[in-house]
This record gives sequence, C-alpha cells and structure tokens, in this order.
Amino acid sequence: MKYRFDNVIDRHGTGCEKWDMCDRIFGGEDLLPLWVADMDFQSPPEVIKALAERATHGIFGYTAYTDSAYDSLIQWFSRRYSWNIDKEWIVYSPGVVPALSLLVQSLTEPGEGVIIQRPVYHPFMHVVEGNGRKLLNSPLRQNSDGMFVMDFDDLREKASDPSAKMMFLCSPHNPPGRVWSREELETLVDICAEKNLIIVSDEIHCDLTYKGVTHIPLPLVKPEYSGRIITCTAPSKTFNIAGLQLSNIIIPDKSLRKKFRQALMKNGMIDPNSFAAVAMEAAYTHGTDWLDELMDYVKANLEYMKHAFRNSLPQIKVIEPQGTYLVWTDFRGFGLNYKELLRIFIEEAKVAPGQGNIYGQEGEGFMRFNLACPGSILEEGIERIIRAFTKYI
Ligand SMILES: Cc1ncc(COP(=O)(O)O)c(C=O)c1O
Repeated sequence: MKYRFDNVIDRHGTGCEKWDMCDRIFGGEDLLPLWVADMDFQSPPEVIKALAERATHGIFGYTAYTDSAYDSLIQWFSRRYSWNIDKEWIVYSPGVVPALSLLVQSLTEPGEGVIIQRPVYHPFMHVVEGNGRKLLNSPLRQNSDGMFVMDFDDLREKASDPSAKMMFLCSPHNPPGRVWSREELETLVDICAEKNLIIVSDEIHCDLTYKGVTHIPLPLVKPEYSGRIITCTAPSKTFNIAGLQLSNIIIPDKSLRKKFRQALMKNGMIDPNSFAAVAMEAAYTHGTDWLDELMDYVKANLEYMKHAFRNSLPQIKVIEPQGTYLVWTDFRGFGLNYKELLRIFIEEAKVAPGQGNIYGQEGEGFMRFNLACPGSILEEGIERIIRAFTKYI
C-alpha cells in the first residue's frame, strides 16, 4: 500500500464535527465516533500540496472556476463513467444539500409532491418538508436475500399522485449502500417519464463503489429523458474535502438550469471559496490511485466487521453494501426498542453510531457505521459494541 490509511491522526481541536462535537450531540462521554459521513483519512497528497501552494499565495479574493478546474471534472466523468458533460451544464453550488433545497424552491411550487425512498439521507426529507412541499415516500423493501430494493408498484402509485412533480433519487443509496443496477434505473426512469417528473439524482457517493460494482450516471440510462434529469455530483465524499463546501450540479436543460442559477443568485450563493476548486482540480486530476487504495482499505474494514459480528454476535446483521464507505446494520435481532438500543450504544458501548431512525421510521432498529477510519479505530468500536451487546442476548 502506497498510502497510510492505518495512520491515526488526532482530529480533536480542529472544530471537527465527528470528534469534537460527538459527546455533546449524543449526550455521552468519551464516545468513539462511527457516525457522520466523513473520513478519518488525509486527502490525497496532491490535494494537500495544491491547497498549501494556494495558501502560500496569500491573496484570497473572489474566486471562480478556472478552465482547468472545469476540465478536470469533465475528464473525471468521461474517464470513469463515459459520461460526456458539457461545460455549460455545470453549475457550482456550495453543497449538494443546499442544491437540493434550491432545486425544490426553483422547480416546484408549494404543495407539490417530491418522491423520496426511505430509509434515506435525512436532509432529503427536511428540504422537501421545510420548503412546504408534500413528501411522497416510497419506501425501499428488503428482498429475500436481505438486500434493499425499490418497490416499483409503490413507486408507480406515488408517481401517480396528482401533486407529484419531482423525485429525489439517492444513487448510490445512503444508508443501505445500494448501487442501483441498469435495470432498476431504467424502470425508475420509465415510471417518472410517464408522469413527466423531474428527477434529481444525488450521486455524491458515485466514486465510492467496491470492486466489480459499476455505478451508472442516471442521464446515461435513457438519454432521451436526460433533459428532465439533474445530477448532483461532488468531489467531497470521494476525497474527504466536505469542509471546503463545493458541489457541481449537472443540468443539461437550459431552462431548468436558468431557474436553478436564478435561485442561487437570489440566495447569494455565487462563487466558490478560494480553496474548493483548487482541491477539486488536484483530486480529479491525480486522485485515481489513492481512491483505488482507499476502497481496498474500506473493503478490508468491512470484511473485518462482518467477520467479527458473525463470530461474536450474529444477532447483528450487516447489510452488504455495494458502495459508499457506510454500512447499514440490523439490530432488530435483540428485540429491544430503539430508545434502549441507543442507550446501550451511548452509555454502555460508548460508541456514537449513525442512528437509523433519522433516515425515516423505516430505519428504526438499524444503525449506520462509518468504515472510513483506521482499522485500529474500527476494531476498538466493534469490540466495544460486542462487549456491551453480549449482555443482551
Ligand atoms: C446522499 C448524500 N447527499 C449529500 C450529502 C452532503 O452533501 P453536501 O455536504 O455537499 O451538502 C451527503 C452526506 O453525507 C449524502 O450522503
């Protein structure tokens, strides 16, 4: 291994949400954080170097994307996904979540419906309901192998709701880690196309797939419908630069793009900060090897977790992820109510998990763990969980 993902780097005192805010948010003491979706790894060395050089320049005025920054993004998606993005389709946004909210504000009317598929990344719900739109939930279901799949009959029903205007797709899907197949995506597009829904495809986790799994950008699935598809991309999850606040929203349709740009403008979200595009360019230009090694490391962590739970506490069911560095686990085997499960985590195991219920009531009984940490941290967390929960079998 060329990169030292094993290195434990102390993040305390950096204003880091995951470590510095953990005890306060969870109401515990000395908790080991396995929750929020960022990594305990340094970004690729080329990213750190580019940022240091930019800092040394010492002038941090208003900033725009350079041609080479645009080009790095275009090349990344062309090389990895054979997706040819026109420069003019790319709209900067300070994050995917702000973009989701502004897309709802600019492309739907109050009272109109937005479809989501719970359990799902919780801001999906907040931006729909917070903006006074109707939440149309079409829950995922587990098939006989325990895999999370879409319920297309239900989705058809939700798409037929007279209020339905937009769908939020999470692809890959956080938290169960599904990378949707071509067949699944085709069916979804067909259902949405029948009702002329706008599909917002949040593909922030697209680069984080395990070996042998292929992510397909939604606009490639049915190119004839790509004008009604908006794809949210970002280098932030892939290269651990979420704190730099940058995402790229890909909107091929001119009139949808214009409305979104106007919403950004109205809210004063115009320019990236002086570091974001520098980091993006370095990452998209030089980050491939680092990313390959990262996913091998995350996979080894996943295997370790599966093995540990299978051997010591088979009541905990790991839902096999195909992508993301997150893992969705089923704790319903203990027969405990959710409040009690959480209490055991905080008071006895002293581990902060991603709490399943925030992803919708469908997530009750589940916990999400973050595998993007040095093996020693994960081992400590798993040991704490096993020690605490062994008392409850
Ligand atoms: C599906 C999904 N979308 C968006 C985000 C966050 O995006 P941003 O930080 O760009 O707002 C996350 C973070 O975990 C996520 O899982």
